[in-house]
Amino acid sequence: MSGLESGIDGCPSHTTTAQAQLSDDFDAFTFLAEPHPVLTRARNEAPVFFDEATEHWVVTRYGTIKTMLADPETFSSVNALDPISPLDERVPQTLEVGGFGGRPFIVNLDGEAHGETKRIMAKVLHPRAVAAFEPRIRQLAQDMLGQLPTGEPFDFVDRFTLEFPALVIFEFLGLPAEVVREVTGWADARLELFFGSLPGDRQAHEAEGIVEFWKFIEDHIDAQTENPGDHFVGDLVRLMLDGEEDVTKNDIANYCWSFLFAGHETTTGQIGSMVRDMLLQREAWEAVVDDPTKISKAVEESLRMNTSVFNWRRRATREVDLDGITVPGGANLFLVYGSANRDADQFPDPDRFDVDREGLRKHLGLGFGAHFCVGAGLARLQLKIVLEELTALMPNLQLVPDAEQRYIDNVSFCGPRSLWLVDR
Ligand code: HEM
Repeated sequence: MSGLESGIDGCPSHTTTAQAQLSDDFDAFTFLAEPHPVLTRARNEAPVFFDEATEHWVVTRYGTIKTMLADPETFSSVNALDPISPLDERVPQTLEVGGFGGRPFIVNLDGEAHGETKRIMAKVLHPRAVAAFEPRIRQLAQDMLGQLPTGEPFDFVDRFTLEFPALVIFEFLGLPAEVVREVTGWADARLELFFGSLPGDRQAHEAEGIVEFWKFIEDHIDAQTENPGDHFVGDLVRLMLDGEEDVTKNDIANYCWSFLFAGHETTTGQIGSMVRDMLLQREAWEAVVDDPTKISKAVEESLRMNTSVFNWRRRATREVDLDGITVPGGANLFLVYGSANRDADQFPDPDRFDVDREGLRKHLGLGFGAHFCVGAGLARLQLKIVLEELTALMPNLQLVPDAEQRYIDNVSFCGPRSLWLVDR
């Protein structure tokens, strides 16, 4: 998938007043800075409404979204990575010349092709491989957190959350740590290009960054064919060289790209939201400071409260009824996982960060069904280690009141881009 449109169809024939009002009040590119007020209204008043600006149907209730995720034939992933804003004509050209993509990414596939890609990914990203990685992740967290200042404010995103998950994925893929800043910049480029609304010249510039990123991955794979290392890329190169699986160099580059993007931005956002949300509802922070055995539960509750993959896309392959609304075949849909996770019918007192909540793991923060997150184990492990180390190191950590708050305008990924904290 080189980021080209896969076609749009399906507008509503009639709308209720509540739907029209929500369509006016919902701004798909900025709502993730403060998502909950408009979504709470939507769940109560018009749980499915059409967003005129992006021509997507917005689906907000837990039961409806879960049912959709259980039916991938009716709700295809073909549009998951379509650019949400029209692309400047220079972009497809740059990506094509740079050899970017070449085949669809896993999150974009349906049916057998999806199952086959997932099987191969799971072969290298299995629970044992993740568990074996724990000491290294902990060491990395301790080193980076140990450098945070005490007694003076610091931006936790700049000092920790942007780089930590990238470094973890780098080690997993066997990439050198020196280029981490550059790569996090390229990842932002892709996010803004495909999920945001950038002016044409910025799009053309970011496309060049993406091609550079792609080339960097290809060079790494080439270097591995001589002497494959003991990591994800090395494992895949061995599978390719042994002929054990039908894997090509382009496939490996494609998997690396999926991991770098799906594993970095998401975990960066989630660590930031987790720490912010727990400090905002301080009793949640105190609960795990007092009893660290509750940390795994706090991680699940964080994924429920504000998942970083907040809003994801599907396309209806036929006409369907969703919460009493007829959605035509071909329609593009936003499945707002972060709204489903605050549905009071599923999670009583949904705005409360409650580490002792019943049925914690029922959230959709890591998806559900065929496309459930491949990196869930690695994500959960990183979040757990960060919370363990941070609460032990800085139990008196606080939010800096009235500090600057930044977010990247985009339709899918949620999480702070600045988070000012102080350890007193
Ligand atoms: C807190 C961090 C993370 C969150 C919240 C998250 C969330 C998600 C969600 C919601 C999906 C499902 C998308 C859909 O419904 O189509 C997904 C899929 C995926 N995730 Fe994650 N993820 C995280 C971390 C990671 C990590 C660390 C990796 C890899 C190292 C990863 C790799 C993937 C891949 C490859 C898919 C596509 C799976 C498929 O299409 O079958 N994710 N993730």
